[in-house]
Amino acid sequence: MKKRILTGDRPTGKLHLGHYVGSLYNRAKFQEEYDEYVLIADVQALTDNFENPEKVRSNIYEVLLDNLAVGVDPNKATFAVQSLIPETAELTVFFANLVTVSRLERNPTVKDEIKQRGFEKSLPLGFFMYPVSQAADICVIRAHLVPVGEDQLPHIEQTREIAHRFNSIYKEVFPLPEAIIGKVRRLPGTDGNVKMSKSLGNVIYLGDDPETVKYKVMGMYTDPTRVHPTDPGHVEGNPVFIYHDAFNANKEEVAGLKDSYEKGKVGDIEVKKRLVKALNEFLDPIREKRFQFQGRGEKFLDEILISGTKKARTVASQTMKMVREAMRVDYFDKD
Ligand code: TRP
Repeated sequence: MKKRILTGDRPTGKLHLGHYVGSLYNRAKFQEEYDEYVLIADVQALTDNFENPEKVRSNIYEVLLDNLAVGVDPNKATFAVQSLIPETAELTVFFANLVTVSRLERNPTVKDEIKQRGFEKSLPLGFFMYPVSQAADICVIRAHLVPVGEDQLPHIEQTREIAHRFNSIYKEVFPLPEAIIGKVRRLPGTDGNVKMSKSLGNVIYLGDDPETVKYKVMGMYTDPTRVHPTDPGHVEGNPVFIYHDAFNANKEEVAGLKDSYEKGKVGDIEVKKRLVKALNEFLDPIREKRFQFQGRGEKFLDEILISGTKKARTVASQTMKMVREAMRVDYFDKD
């Protein structure tokens, strides 16, 4: 039996390079070795977009296409729609007993997000408790591994705590899931901000066209202490070099550029131009694949989601049978 992987995306917009290094890359890498589930997390997207259901709906296909474009293969991985797995909602309710409000309040990712969304004064309960629902996403599939970006680590830790409590109070049902982190720990925004986000406008999307990539890269922040191209520059923590390291396949070129940069022998513009080229070479096949999959039409995409959701639900309903038995609420299942 293969071990299971579960991960997911909120369908609130197209996916970007941060998603790629954080999770998408590992999805493509591990899809053969593991039984892999990719969740389109529409319920979670609605926790802060409940007034914009059309936005969530229209991004279901975008997120699916981004996954397909980077090589997550629908014949290997299983794509499922979160809201169509009602077992997850059921498990969320049971899990809510196993976590305290103060524990949830300490989650640093949720804290940041509350600030970002201006939820300090009036915090929707659904948003506050989405990590509980995320724990249910993972546990309803009884996943062992969860490929995610670094920002998601608090949620995985929370999931392990809940799963452990469940197992020790009732019965051993859940594996304690482990996070798999991308090899680039955190990709900064093009403005050097540690957080990449659509609202900050510092994001390069997987589907951006070559001109857009060029425009965004040429506007990137570099070494703030460097005034002239002949000044010795800093490579460490410099967003342009972090991107070179992450996406430029020509490692020799990157090493050469770093060396020249530190000696004040190459300007920011040249380093950025090389990054534009490298990024476009990296994105070309992704764009091409996205275009091809898009061309196959909505029916093709629907079929991937319908059959995947069905498969995920089979696992989810087995899990809930185990959960009900463990929790002694399996009243009329006496076989
Ligand atoms: N919170 C994740 C994000 O914002 C999306 C997500 C939902 C997820 N459910 C999940 C990730 C389960 C991993 C496992 O990107």
